[in-house]
Amino acid sequence: MSAAAIERVHEIAVLRARIAAWRAAALRVGFVPTMGNLHEGHLALVDLARRHADRVVASVFVNPTQFGPGEDYARYPRTLEADAAALAARGCDLLYAPTVEAMYPDGSQGLVEVRVPALDDVLCGAFRPGHFRGVATVVAKLLNQVQPEVAVFGEKDWQQLLVVRALVRGLDLPVEIVPGPTLRESDGLAMSSRNQYLSADERRRASVIYATLIQVADAVRGGQDPVAAESSGRSALEAEGFVVDYVAVRSAGDLGPPAAGRPRIVLIAARLGSTRLIDNLLVDR
Ligand code: PAJ
Repeated sequence: MSAAAIERVHEIAVLRARIAAWRAAALRVGFVPTMGNLHEGHLALVDLARRHADRVVASVFVNPTQFGPGEDYARYPRTLEADAAALAARGCDLLYAPTVEAMYPDGSQGLVEVRVPALDDVLCGAFRPGHFRGVATVVAKLLNQVQPEVAVFGEKDWQQLLVVRALVRGLDLPVEIVPGPTLRESDGLAMSSRNQYLSADERRRASVIYATLIQVADAVRGGQDPVAAESSGRSALEAEGFVVDYVAVRSAGDLGPPAAGRPRIVLIAARLGSTRLIDNLLVDR
């Protein structure tokens, strides 16, 4: 069965008009921000938003301010037609795809930015300076544009989820943040738009990330010293040809050092060739 086409809006004023009509009808709005090139992990977030709301808006915007110099902004896959079709088939109500000019009318000069200092410069923040400032800024803007009752973010990007929660709390934004579980390929690799950068050989080796997460989580759960577990995880990845940014055991709630009585998480960021992959696994679910 082919789904009806989804309505697409590219301008903030049109977006606001559509959402005002829903709000006038007392409909709850759910929001799923994305950078497009949608896969099943994204679409599962649309389903989740649907369970919390009467209408679901998805955004597709490859946000330039969260990419560093030399990162993959230019080559990031842009597949709006396929994304629109997938969202329509999933019963998403509106696709918001602003242009860079609509989102940043003044360019980078004088850009008003949002920072979450407690999470900005650890883990991915340390390896991608400015990344979370770009994420926090665009998410704050998107939340103000859509003004949803609920917004859904994937646990796949755990640090981003914490940044978004902190920004919502810090700016008193009236939105509920709902986390969605990580969807994986059959060999455990977390679904990601970046997986398609991998060669066939790299794709085969990429499953070692999930295997390593399980190994480190099991070791820590079994009482092994987290630093020792991190270092054997790093070796396992290096043996498969990864260049490892980090294998880290942290407190899940704030990414501080693991502490007794607090839920722990293992996080990995590692590169295969020119592709940087991230994933994580809760030790104490
Ligand atoms: P993007 O990478 O497109 O991801 C959009 C949303 O999908 C994020 O909340 C992300 O955590 C979630 N997601 C990605 N892969 C997933 C998987 N395998 N399983 C479950 N959820 C998954 O994250 C961004 O875009 C951007 O930083 C954004 C928040 C849109 C700001 O620009």
